Amino acid sequence: MVIAIDGPAGAGKSTVAGKLAKKLGILHLDTGAMYRAAVLYALDRGCDPADGATADRLAAEIDVTVQSSPDGQRTFLNGRDVSAIMREHRVSKAASDFSAHSSVRLKMAALQRQIAVRVDIILDGRDIGTFVLPDADFKFFLTADIEERARRRTLELKEKGRDVQFADVLREMEERDRNDSSRALAPLKKAEDAIAVDTTRNTADEIVERLAAYIKGKLKTEN
Ligand code: DC
Repeated sequence: MVIAIDGPAGAGKSTVAGKLAKKLGILHLDTGAMYRAAVLYALDRGCDPADGATADRLAAEIDVTVQSSPDGQRTFLNGRDVSAIMREHRVSKAASDFSAHSSVRLKMAALQRQIAVRVDIILDGRDIGTFVLPDADFKFFLTADIEERARRRTLELKEKGRDVQFADVLREMEERDRNDSSRALAPLKKAEDAIAVDTTRNTADEIVERLAAYIKGKLKTEN
């Protein structure tokens, strides 16, 4: 079984995907983490993540692997565990820029497909239902008002000890939405057959219950 959960930053995808995977007893792949790991390869070399020629050259040298662990996914860049460093604030916009290059996207999509053919899994990202796995058994597109998404991200960053302002997070989020939605290959977009779920006024647990009920209902009517 393959479940695709797509949507913009801060819509709750990773939290919901993680909890739903646990509930269903299947794996969870956070594909955003793979783009975050990949761009570190460029940043470590002092390269501009927005430069296409550099991305095309580096993409071939990048290998990203993942491992499930009790405290969530561990992500490795060419064998180095980058799970903590890739969450740094500077990496978010850089990952968005780097992910716009087709060479990078094709590489990551191929790795994601390799993982998904072997197991029952939930993948969360921007283009899983439209591009990576258009034949997924279930497709959901999570959204929320941008103010709410920025509020959640501000809270998350403050909990990590970062001194951030809501207005700055909101502005950066708008910019990242624009970036992710406007790239040429596999932009952030709801798949036509995906179910849209607005998470603005719900907790992650409520959304998990809603998706689990939908999946169970559908599987029952099919059997
Ligand atoms: O989900 P996230 O914020 O960790 O993702 C970081 C960036 O990676 C995001 O701004 C766009 C890119 N990304 C992508 O292009 N496709 C995906 N499937 C997942 C993430």
